[in-house]
Amino acid sequence: MTAELVERLRSARRVIALTGAGISAESGVPTFRDAQTGLWAKYRPEDLATPEAFARDPRLVWEWYAWRRERVQNVVPNPGHFALVEMERRIPEFTLVTQNVDDLHRRAGSKRIIELHGNITRVKCFENNHLAAHWGEQGQIPPRCAECGGLLRPDVVWFGENLPAGAFEQALAASETCDMFLSIGTSSLVYPAASLPFAALERGATVVEVNPNATSLTPRAHHSFRAPSGEFLPALVSAVWLR
Ligand code: APR
Repeated sequence: MTAELVERLRSARRVIALTGAGISAESGVPTFRDAQTGLWAKYRPEDLATPEAFARDPRLVWEWYAWRRERVQNVVPNPGHFALVEMERRIPEFTLVTQNVDDLHRRAGSKRIIELHGNITRVKCFENNHLAAHWGEQGQIPPRCAECGGLLRPDVVWFGENLPAGAFEQALAASETCDMFLSIGTSSLVYPAASLPFAALERGATVVEVNPNATSLTPRAHHSFRAPSGEFLPALVSAVWLR
C-alpha cells in the first residue's frame, strides 16, 4: 500500500465501500462464480436464482437456499469484515454497500449497510412480498405465507428482478459524493452495482480496488491491490489509524 493512499484515507470524510462475494471467501463462503460442489454441482446459480426457476420448481430453489443459509450460519465474519467495522467507527461518513446476502457484515458489527441484493436470512412471500417473521423449516417445502397462503421464498434479489426500493438510489448518491470508493471482492460483472465505482470516478473520487484477480474496474482504478481482503483491509486500517 502506498503512503499516498494512507494519507488520503486518513483525511477522507466520505468513504463508500462496495463489497462482493470475495470478502466472504476467507470465511469459507464460496463466491458466485466458483464452481458449485456436492449435490448442487450440476446446477449453475444463474439457473436457480430466478423467479422463473422458482415458479418451475419451488422446492428445488427453496432447498438450494436452505443449504446456502445453513452454510453461512455456520461460518463467522473474517478480518476483512471487521476492518470495515473499524473504518465505520473512524470515518465521519462511511457507507457500506454490499451485494452479499450472507449477513456477515451485520454479524461483524457494521451498522450502516445498504444491501443491494437482499439477505438470505430473511424470507418473504412470492405472491405479495410480505416479509415473514417466522417460518417452519419442517413440514411443507417451501413453507406458506401466514397472511395469504402463497409460497415463501428467500428475500434476495434474483436475476431479472428489481433491487429493493431506494437501495440503489442511496448507493448511487453516496458514490457520487464520496472522497474515496473502495471496491472489494467483486468481479464487477453484475449491474447496476458494477456501475457505482464508475459514478464515483466521474465525480473525482479516489477509487481503490482490492481483489486477487483483475476486473473491468482494474484499468480505471487509482489503486488496485491484488490481495485477499482479509489480509489487505486490516493492514490498511492499521497503517492509517493504528501507527
Ligand atoms: N478477497 C477479495 N476478493 C476475492 C477473494 C478474497 N479473498 N477471493 C476471491 N475474490 C474475488 C474474485 O476474484 C472475484 O472477482 O471476489 C470476486 C467474486 O466475484 P463473484 O463471485 O462474481 O461475486 P460478486 O461480484 O459479488 O457477484 C455479484 O452476482 O450472482 C450475482 O447476485 C449475485 O451478488 C452477486 C452478484
